[in-house]
Amino acid sequence: VLDLLPGAGPWEVELGFGKGRYLLRRAAAEPSCRFLGVERAARYFRLTVERARRRGIGNLLALRGDALFLLTAVLPRCFARAVHVYFPDPWPKTRHHRRRLFHPETLDLVVGLLEPGGLLHFASDHPEYGPLVAELLRGYPAVEVKELLDGWEDGPRTNYEAKYLRAGRPIVRLVATRTAPDPLPLHSQGRDGVLTAYDSADGSLR
Ligand SMILES: C[S@@+](CC[C@H](N)C(=O)[O-])C[C@H]1O[C@@H](n2cnc3c(N)ncnc32)[C@H](O)[C@@H]1O
Repeated sequence: VLDLLPGAGPWEVELGFGKGRYLLRRAAAEPSCRFLGVERAARYFRLTVERARRRGIGNLLALRGDALFLLTAVLPRCFARAVHVYFPDPWPKTRHHRRRLFHPETLDLVVGLLEPGGLLHFASDHPEYGPLVAELLRGYPAVEVKELLDGWEDGPRTNYEAKYLRAGRPIVRLVATRTAPDPLPLHSQGRDGVLTAYDSADGSLR
């Protein structure tokens, strides 16, 4: 799918770009890089693509679809120097936790987009999900959480961030580095949910 935007520039990815404020600004500011944006909502997707057209942005590949599906079935691994996820849906009900982008069973898919040494940028205002993602990443040996930030140097990056800043909500912002090469391990808390093997030689489950 990356062949849709040929070129030699390094890739950055934003998952759930909403109205595209950050993605469009970065793509316009760094024409020698390639940006891949994923957004599920058709309205936001169309709005962002229309703005990209009007601004003559030629280094953006926008995909409308479910990020978890695209991560599992469509996108290659280890291709991006940075992945951005800002204010992802927190899915607060326990029975919906599996829909989260950051979940012990799916974390390797998000981190797997990064080349080793690549950076994950994350922000959330959600009082449980934000700190939980920070904890999840700290417990995942494939990444190193570099820093928790009070704010980005370039100011609020997305529409939600600007709105929540004005409302005075606390925001968890972090940058983490992918340290491990492929294949990435599953997160220790998610392994059993993803894969259990029955060994018929001794009848055990692992
Ligand atoms: C709370 S909004 C944040 C939008 C933007 N990142 C911002 O900070 O302004 C979450 C966005 O992620 C998108 N989204 C949520 N789950 C998604 C998924 N599984 N795949 C793709 N997009 C998703 C939603 O449609 C929505 O635009």
